[in-house]
Amino acid sequence: MAKEESKNFGQTVAGWKQFIYNPRSGEVLGRTAGSWALILLFYLVFYGFLAGLFTFTMWVMLQTLDDNVPKYRDRVSSPGLMISPKSDSGLDIVFRKSVPSTYADYVKALHSFLQPYNDTTQGAKNVFCTPGFYREEDESKKKACQFNRTMLGQCSGIEDPTFGYSNGSPCVIVKMNRIIGLKPEGNPSINCTFKKDDGVQLLYFPDYGKIDLMYFPYYGKKVQDTYVQPLVAVKIITTSNATEEDIQFECKIHGSSNLRNSDDRDKFLGRVTFKVLIQD
Ligand SMILES: *[C@@H]1O[C@H](CO)[C@@H](O)[C@H](O)[C@H]1NC(C)=O
Ligand SMILES: *[C@@H]1O[C@H](CO)[C@@H](O)[C@H](O)[C@H]1NC(C)=O
Ligand SMILES: *[C@@H]1O[C@H](CO)[C@@H](O)[C@H](O)[C@H]1NC(C)=O
Ligand SMILES: *[C@@H]1O[C@H](CO)[C@@H](O)[C@H](O)[C@H]1NC(C)=O
Repeated sequence: MAKEESKNFGQTVAGWKQFIYNPRSGEVLGRTAGSWALILLFYLVFYGFLAGLFTFTMWVMLQTLDDNVPKYRDRVSSPGLMISPKSDSGLDIVFRKSVPSTYADYVKALHSFLQPYNDTTQGAKNVFCTPGFYREEDESKKKACQFNRTMLGQCSGIEDPTFGYSNGSPCVIVKMNRIIGLKPEGNPSINCTFKKDDGVQLLYFPDYGKIDLMYFPYYGKKVQDTYVQPLVAVKIITTSNATEEDIQFECKIHGSSNLRNSDDRDKFLGRVTFKVLIQD
């Protein structure tokens, strides 16, 4: 019985050995070297073809892409609004006009925000444009239009380096986010409203909170690296002599049919709300 088994086992091993390499026919794993070579060749060609197809498809895809414009977007989106200065606590501006340390961070943030708008820099890097018209550029390196810091008048931080914070009439700068290819229609402007009946007056820079069309379209950082977006500064002047003013503002884009400002789900789309608390 045991002998029988070991004989069978011996046969099996011999069979396997012969399967792995058959010296008589020269077959390896049941195939001749030529047959193996053919199989190898087949897979080589097959996978080579797949790789080639993939590479080609990818190449064709990439040819249709433009470095500067996102390929897929449902429409040119509508920009959001943001303010400067922003504090760590969000969009609340809280300070005491008699205590410089309470507004030092705001003033610093405004100065650094306006650094690129320095007249000298703008004069050197950007071009003077005709107001009221889109600035469409054909060259591969696109020029950008000058927006001088001095266009923000009393809110430029030049005559008054504290932007009005020291006398309780702070400036807040509203900016519209950059959107490549956006061309606002109509006459866009920023208009701010506040919840308070009297004792507050707003001054806009440039006049009427106007956003000029010459700053559009924007072509993207890569080809238009000196671009600066147009700004609107709002100076908040309180005329009552209360020791504390707590005012809630909402600034919106107006006057342009393709700039949305009332999306229920996105409270920064075309608008921004912030609070200003001024203490003596
Ligand atoms: C603008 O930049 C120039 C040169 O860097 C500098 O001298 C000047 O003080 C700057 N002006 C302002 C308002 O920052
Ligand atoms: C901006 O300032 C520069 C330098 O002072 C000046 O040459 C240029 O004309 C100004 N541009 C605008 C649009 O005011
Ligand atoms: C800003 O909005 C107020 C209130 O809606 C309106 O009375 C005023 O005319 C608007 N100003 C501009 C410049 O659009
Ligand atoms: C506010 O100040 C003015 C001038 O400083 C003064 O005439 C007026 O009485 C003050 N009003 C209140 C409500 O304190």
